[in-house]
Amino acid sequence: MSVERTLSIIKPDAVAKNVIGEIVTRFEKAGLKVVSMQMKQLSKEDAEGFYAEHKERPFFADLVAFMTSGPVVVQVLEGENAIAMNRDLMGATNPKEAAESTIRRDFAESIDANAVHGSDSAASAEREIAYFFGA
Ligand code: PPS
Repeated sequence: MSVERTLSIIKPDAVAKNVIGEIVTRFEKAGLKVVSMQMKQLSKEDAEGFYAEHKERPFFADLVAFMTSGPVVVQVLEGENAIAMNRDLMGATNPKEAAESTIRRDFAESIDANAVHGSDSAASAEREIAYFFGA
């Protein structure tokens, strides 16, 4: 195992539900450290660029509309095995399929409003961190 950094986004539905602190506490209790954090209103261009790899998928316009519907919290998490650890804490993309005690199971309503994003690989983490925080 090695110390990694990963990008996490607390999405507009979770910010609106007032559970930023509860979600960050889960990261911290699992041993992940927040090393950068910013609350941000994404523009359409921000969201389209971030999710560019999904632009041909049928839900792309809905995803961009959702991610720009209110503020998000963008953060860099650091720790041993941080990329997989964050994905485990998040749970499955569809909250109905997410394991018990995961963030999406506990705080998300649907596949299109699913509380959190987390980088899915080392390459994604590098690109996504640079996208929001620079090199
Ligand atoms: S993942 O997490 O990348 O493996 O999931 P994937 O299924 O590839 O989905 C990519 C992102 O698109 C979001 N998504 C959707 N948004 C709106 N409507 C529908 N139906 C939908 N299905 C998937 C999903 O939450 C992923 O967003 P992120 O921010 O990467 O978690």
